[in-house]
Amino acid sequence: MWWFWSNFASRLRDYAMKQTYDFDTVIDRSGTHAVKQDRLTEYFGRDDLLPLWVADMDFAVCPAITQALSSRINNHPIYGYTCPIDSYWQAIIDWQRSRNGFEFTPDEACFIPGIVPGFGLALNFFTRPGDKVLIQEPVYHPFRRLTEGNGRKIVMNELLEDGNGFYKMDIVNLEQTIENEKPALMVLCNPHNPIGITWPVEDMREVARIARKHGVVVISDEIHGDLVFKGNRHVPFATVSDDAAAVSVTFGAPSKTFNIAGIVSSWCVIKNPELRTPFFTWLETNELNSPNFLSMAATEAAYRHGGEWLDQCLAYIEGNIDFVIDYCNKHIPAIKPVKPQASYLVWLDCRRLGLEHEQVVDLFTNKARLALNDGSMFGVAGRCFMRFNVASPRSVIEKALERLCKAVKALK
Ligand SMILES: Cc1ncc(COP(=O)(O)O)c(C=O)c1O
Repeated sequence: MWWFWSNFASRLRDYAMKQTYDFDTVIDRSGTHAVKQDRLTEYFGRDDLLPLWVADMDFAVCPAITQALSSRINNHPIYGYTCPIDSYWQAIIDWQRSRNGFEFTPDEACFIPGIVPGFGLALNFFTRPGDKVLIQEPVYHPFRRLTEGNGRKIVMNELLEDGNGFYKMDIVNLEQTIENEKPALMVLCNPHNPIGITWPVEDMREVARIARKHGVVVISDEIHGDLVFKGNRHVPFATVSDDAAAVSVTFGAPSKTFNIAGIVSSWCVIKNPELRTPFFTWLETNELNSPNFLSMAATEAAYRHGGEWLDQCLAYIEGNIDFVIDYCNKHIPAIKPVKPQASYLVWLDCRRLGLEHEQVVDLFTNKARLALNDGSMFGVAGRCFMRFNVASPRSVIEKALERLCKAVKALK
C-alpha cells in the first residue's frame, strides 16, 4: 500500500515537474580543494583531464542547505559544543518513512562519522582479526581495502552477468560460500555501486534468510538509496523480512543524495537490540556518535526542504544517462554503457574495443584525457570496464564523449 501511494505521488511530481533549479552551469571547483580536481596528478599522473571519477556531483546544492548553513554561521558567532537536536533526527526519520517506507525510532538510530569510517567501526566491533567478510565484486573498493587493512579476510561471491547487459546476485553460490567459509560479516551495497543495481526484494530475502541461519551480520550500505530512477525503487534491506531486521546494520546518509559529502553526516539504523545495544554503547563510550552543528543544520534542511531539488536533479541525471547511452550507440558502439537503476555512476563495458585492460585505461586517460575510475579497482571482474560519473552539466558530458569518440576512432 505504501509503495502504491509513494509511486502515485512520484508520478504526480513527474507530471508537474518543470526544471527550476540550474544543473547546466559549469561551476569551476578549483580553489575548493575538491578531491576530484586536486588529486588528478596523484592518481592519473597528469592534471589536464576532465574529472568524472570521485562520486560527488558538480551541481550547486539545494539553496535551502546553503541558507541553513549561512544562517547558522552568520546569525550567531559562537560555534561551541552543540547537543544533537530532536528535529534533526525527526527530519531523517520522516524522510526515510515517506521516501523509502523505512520506519525506525530515534533509539534505533545513531550518528556515524561517515559511511566508510562507520564500516571500519562496525568491522572492528563485530569481527576479530582473521575473521572473514563476504563481499560481492565488482563493488565499491573500500569494502575490500578496509577488510584487508584491518587483518580480516575477504570471501567472494562475485556478481553474475545476467545475459541482458545487467547483473544479478549469485544466491546459490552465496549460500554455499557462507556454509563453507563461515564469514562473520557480509556487506550488501544497496543500491550497488558501481553498477547502480536496486536489488530485487526476493534476493534480499534470500540473503537475510541465509545470513540469519548462519549467524552472519549484514552491513547494508544504502548511501545511494535516494538516487533511484523512474520505474525502480529503493527497498531498505532491513524492511524485507524479519530475518533482515534481525541481521542488518543499515548505513545511510544525505551526502550523495544532496551533494554534501564534505559535510560528514551519516547515520546507522539497527533494529535488533542484540546487535544495536552493544554497538551503540561502544560508539557512545568512544564519543563517535555526535554530529557537529553544521552537519545537523545541512542535514535537516536537506531532508525537510530538498525533495523538489532532488526530483529535478534525478530527472537531469537520468537525461545524462540516456544521453550517454544514445551517444555510445550512435558513435562508439564498441563501448556499452550499463544503464543504472540508481545513482549517477555509469558502468562502461569496453570489452568490445578488443584492448587489454591497461590499454583501455590508457585510452581514457592519455588519449581522451578523461579521469574515470578504472573498473579493476572494484575487483578483477571490472577489467575492461570504466566507471563514469555523469553528475555534471550535460555540456561536460557531451565534451567527454566527443573526446572519447575521437580517441576511439584514432585507434584504427
Ligand atoms: C557505496 C558507497 N559507500 C560509501 C561511500 C562513501 O561514504 P562516506 O563519504 O560517508 O564515507 C561511497 C562513496 O562513493 C559509496 O559509493
